[in-house]
Amino acid sequence: MSTEERQRAPVEEPRKNDFVKLLEYLKDTRGFDFSGYKLSSLMRRVQKRMQQVGVTSHSDYIDFLEVHPDEFNPLFNTVLINVTAFFRDPQAWQALRERILPRILEEKGEGLPIRCWSAGCASGEEAYTLAILLAEALGDQEFRRRVKIYATDVDDEALAQARQGSYAAAQLAEVPAELAERYFEKAGDRRVFRTDLRRSLIFGRHDLVQDAAISRLDLLVCRNTLMYLNSETQSKILARFHFALNRNGYLFLGKAETLLSHSTSFRPEDLKSRIFQRTPTSNLRDRMLALTPPSTSGDGPAAAAGRPVRVREAAFEAGPARPAAPGPEDLLPAGRAALAHRRGLCVAVGLGAAGGRVAAGRRRAAHAGDRGAPPAGRRRRPARSQHRVPGPDGADPAPPRARARQPGAGDGL
Ligand SMILES: C[S@@+](CC[C@H](N)C(=O)[O-])C[C@H]1O[C@@H](n2cnc3c(N)ncnc32)[C@H](O)[C@@H]1O
Repeated sequence: MSTEERQRAPVEEPRKNDFVKLLEYLKDTRGFDFSGYKLSSLMRRVQKRMQQVGVTSHSDYIDFLEVHPDEFNPLFNTVLINVTAFFRDPQAWQALRERILPRILEEKGEGLPIRCWSAGCASGEEAYTLAILLAEALGDQEFRRRVKIYATDVDDEALAQARQGSYAAAQLAEVPAELAERYFEKAGDRRVFRTDLRRSLIFGRHDLVQDAAISRLDLLVCRNTLMYLNSETQSKILARFHFALNRNGYLFLGKAETLLSHSTSFRPEDLKSRIFQRTPTSNLRDRMLALTPPSTSGDGPAAAAGRPVRVREAAFEAGPARPAAPGPEDLLPAGRAALAHRRGLCVAVGLGAAGGRVAAGRRRAAHAGDRGAPPAGRRRRPARSQHRVPGPDGADPAPPRARARQPGAGDGL
């Protein structure tokens, strides 16, 4: 059987049921909902991890997780593939630089803010690549004044690396030498993204399946991330992306992502590079999808928090613009959420003050979960990296854990 055939082969029912129980266990104990992911690929990755620890059945693996809570970390590392690179698929970035960014800047006009989102940013290379191209197009001063790049991921450990903006020299192999020289400072054998420009990047934890989208965007980069999700979940997320983008905003997907071929919400601008432009209208189905709570898990606080609100965005805005800034879950105490709400930042669709409280309450619970033992019942997945004491400039002094991040290696489920 070819790899493709194996991927499409239906999973037998008893195995599937056992696996679903494992997914429920992960959701109940760690609050991580994998139900929107492609089942067969997900099973393969979990299987890989089970083999590594010498467990053969899913129910035995649940027992193993009970006894070895440290196992969650490598399991999530195996499942959330955070392979990435600077200028990944260089010709696509070239298309963005030559054709799309000039249009965005021209349409925006002098002095207006430019808002971008790198969703599923892994350890940050994608967001810094975008920053380099925008700084090249605008010049340093205008970049600092006008650009905001929100960069999010569901993986706390990858985000901790992204926030530092510190990479081994070898990781910059794909960055043209003169750009590497201009945008990175040497720190021993590492290269650190320039602090003055780093302030325009805001990193935060965000789950594309469960959380509300960041809005008023000129460019949304979501590459090699949607492909791990099933088509229903992808459709919901794309419908929310449509609402998140400004009129004529652009969506930049990964090379293997094809779901937009039948969409009326986006039209291909450069199909080869997977760059799409938002169309002014969407069909009724897309509009309904965008209004559905993002979480596939039905109701509850997570679903309520997923409605298209700007509370989460306020959390990003309110955060300190400095390296190693904590993620939005950590940044938004209830009081700030309430303040944001009173200031009218919460333009909820069907979410009034109570909804704001739900979102804030959820963050409070998440925060409490980080500090001590999670409450019984639904618990949030804890930060997977150790919390380190920030340095004087907020940067984490400890070197990030070295990871091989070769595009292609182990990528593509
Ligand atoms: C293969 S990497 C892609 C990184 C980068 N966008 C690129 O193309 O080089 C996929 C990333 O998606 C993240 N991811 C997986 N599920 C996610 C979710 N539900 N919400 C947000 N990010 C998610 C993973 O943690 C991982 O960092």
